[in-house]
Amino acid sequence: MTSKSITLAFTGASGAPYGMRLLECLLAQDYTVYLLVSSAARVVLATEHDTKLPASPSAMHKALVERLHCSADKLVVCGKEDWFSPVASGSAAPKQMIVCPCSAGSLASIAHGLSDNLIERAADVVIKEKGQLLLVVRETPFSTIHLENMHKLSQMGVTIMPAAPGFYHQPQSIDDLVDFMVARVLDHIGAEQTLVPRWGYDQR
Ligand SMILES: Cc1cc2nc3c(=O)[nH]c(=O)nc-3n(C[C@H](O)[C@H](O)[C@H](O)COP(=O)(O)O)c2cc1C
Repeated sequence: MTSKSITLAFTGASGAPYGMRLLECLLAQDYTVYLLVSSAARVVLATEHDTKLPASPSAMHKALVERLHCSADKLVVCGKEDWFSPVASGSAAPKQMIVCPCSAGSLASIAHGLSDNLIERAADVVIKEKGQLLLVVRETPFSTIHLENMHKLSQMGVTIMPAAPGFYHQPQSIDDLVDFMVARVLDHIGAEQTLVPRWGYDQR
């Protein structure tokens, strides 16, 4: 057993399959995952991923444990205003956080430190504690507002990782495209990944 822990937030951008696959991979690598899911993310999940998650954190936890066959104590589902969650305080929060997918709205709130819900607060905590924050932003085209917000966060050390899979691994399916993005995220947090061959080493 290891004590790896990470905060993962799903927000309401298109790209729910990226988030679900990432969750699966993190749990498979024995991370303790603090999961935060916005209301809009639940709508997107139901639209894109055949996953209808209940709103209540305890029911969502039960549904995900059953679906992913993971250990119940490795997944902690936090509510939108669960201010007593470890992720809400620099004294207890995991040092790494991924927002995947990240909407333009959450991007803006994080860039301006709003901390109006637990996702925004958790991101604010990781920034102030100089941890590692990755935003898998999805919108197209990007407006100047989006670009300015990304630029601002990037200057603070936040990793902006647009949901823009490559094609050089010759994807045969949507799963291959999803795995491309998830592999890049796993690389950045220092996790194992064998989802996609590494450029120059083990290409097909
Ligand atoms: C099916 C669906 C797809 C969406 N895709 C995007 C998207 O790709 N990027 C984005 O910024 N917003 C997208 N939105 C809009 C956001 O969900 C909306 O702005 C929401 O307020 C974001 O809230 P959140 O950041 O708290 O999750 C989408 C909404 C739906 C229902």
